[in-house]
Amino acid sequence: MKLSEIMRTNGSCRNYKPDPVSDAVLARVLDAARWGPTGGNRQPVSFVVVRNKAVKEALRDLYLPIWGPYYAAAKEGTLRIGAKSSLLDNADLFARNMADIPVLLVVCARLADVHPTDNRLGRLSIVGGASVYPAVQNVLLAAREEGLGTALTTLLCEQEPQVKQLLGIPEEVSTAAMVTIGWPTKAFPKKLTRRPLSEMAFSERYGAMLPGADDINVG
Ligand SMILES: Cc1cc2nc3c(=O)[nH]c(=O)nc-3n(C[C@H](O)[C@H](O)[C@H](O)COP(=O)(O)O)c2cc1C
Repeated sequence: MKLSEIMRTNGSCRNYKPDPVSDAVLARVLDAARWGPTGGNRQPVSFVVVRNKAVKEALRDLYLPIWGPYYAAAKEGTLRIGAKSSLLDNADLFARNMADIPVLLVVCARLADVHPTDNRLGRLSIVGGASVYPAVQNVLLAAREEGLGTALTTLLCEQEPQVKQLLGIPEEVSTAAMVTIGWPTKAFPKKLTRRPLSEMAFSERYGAMLPGADDINVG
């Protein structure tokens, strides 16, 4: 499969078959994470693979109280999101069925090993995540190559102390995401809903048209 096709069709998968994901396949998928770039090559990322039903239930029980108000606000329109109502309902089903998903992958990061160069700007720091999420994206892409569906989620991070206690995550390690992994019940999407390139890539100055960007706004 071509990388461009993998990237264009790797939508969030929220409906999974109960079939297990073998150790060998999962190891291949996670191995892809190692090759992502990190600031100073400090490699802060680690993972906890959760397959145990009782632990998955505990994670679901931590996720649901965060998801509930988020879902309600998104349905009411008080929270702006780019998803349709039907997709939200599917995300609600996903949340409630989370313990049935074969693998819940908790992504961790050792904060001492990230170097947020924007943490003195008096605004939300975003750079710290740049040493974490390339590894996560590699996992999503490698999973897609294997035919596995994934969904990157972050709501659970609000419950970090409880998640850390549940999984024995050391004090100095933080949670950065939870990725669900399994075999999808439906075919992968042919096309994802994304902004056109001309709205997000500029030439020389922010907002200035990038030559060729319009021509590629198909598909
Ligand atoms: C930073 C981030 C956080 C996300 N958190 C959640 C989450 O907590 N729960 C969830 O169901 N999906 C979550 N998602 C998935 C997004 O909803 C999804 O990527 C987006 O709606 C686009 O959908 P698509 O990838 O299927 O096109 C998250 C995605 C990102 C990048």
